Amino acid sequence: MTPKLKLIDIHCHLDFSDFDPSTKLGASRDEVIKRALEAGIGMINIGVDLETSQKSIALAEKYDGVFAVVGIHPHDADKKIDFKELKKLAKHEKVVGIGECGLDNVRSSTSNIEQKDIFEQQIELALELDKPLMIHCRDAHKEVLEILKEYKNNEASLRCNIHFFSGNWEQAQEYLKLGFSLSFDGPITFSHDYDETIKNMPLGRIMAETDSPFAAPVPYRGQRNEPLYVQEVVKRIAEIKVISFEEAAKQTTKNAITFFGLE
Ligand code: NI
Repeated sequence: MTPKLKLIDIHCHLDFSDFDPSTKLGASRDEVIKRALEAGIGMINIGVDLETSQKSIALAEKYDGVFAVVGIHPHDADKKIDFKELKKLAKHEKVVGIGECGLDNVRSSTSNIEQKDIFEQQIELALELDKPLMIHCRDAHKEVLEILKEYKNNEASLRCNIHFFSGNWEQAQEYLKLGFSLSFDGPITFSHDYDETIKNMPLGRIMAETDSPFAAPVPYRGQRNEPLYVQEVVKRIAEIKVISFEEAAKQTTKNAITFFGLE
């Protein structure tokens, strides 16, 4: 049973060493999770390879209100990946999606062919298990859209969220046309690049995330990020949409519960 959640950080990496008990960066992993849950903030921890996917599941098993997404990040596309093992992990009852997966043309040590191959295998896994996808896309919207459009044409059940959306309004509309959602992070609190998309898109397709430990919002910029700070992201969404914080919180949380099937 999930406690009543007021907000959900749909994308964080609390298994990273930045949250180890020995870290000098601030509170430990367990403290960070507890203070978010105490504030009514649930979270989805995201795997980037098999090891972090396993760690995500372990965190989700430990806490009500914490869920896991398992998958292989495009930065890890050159590792040898045991897809049978990934499938086994993906069937866990607290795994609510597949990812983060996609294409990355910015910070990439892996080739396009490797990236595309493991991306497509994960799309197929998501379809097979009927779970949504957490998409990572950096400067590759044209290619990602091409792939997703083709799959969506054949499999109407394909569900995707474009995590850390960093495209423009034109690209946003392409994803929205496919029925997908977009999630936003700390940068919306200090850059106006996202205003047009957030202002124009339906509130029913927006979710909030932190991508902790990265990309902390104002007023925590430069510090280690944590799920509690998703409040700042939702505050900014409310401001751009000219609605109350409560309304933005309620709707983005409802979106996350519906999209990931959180119970
Ligand atoms: Ni991430």
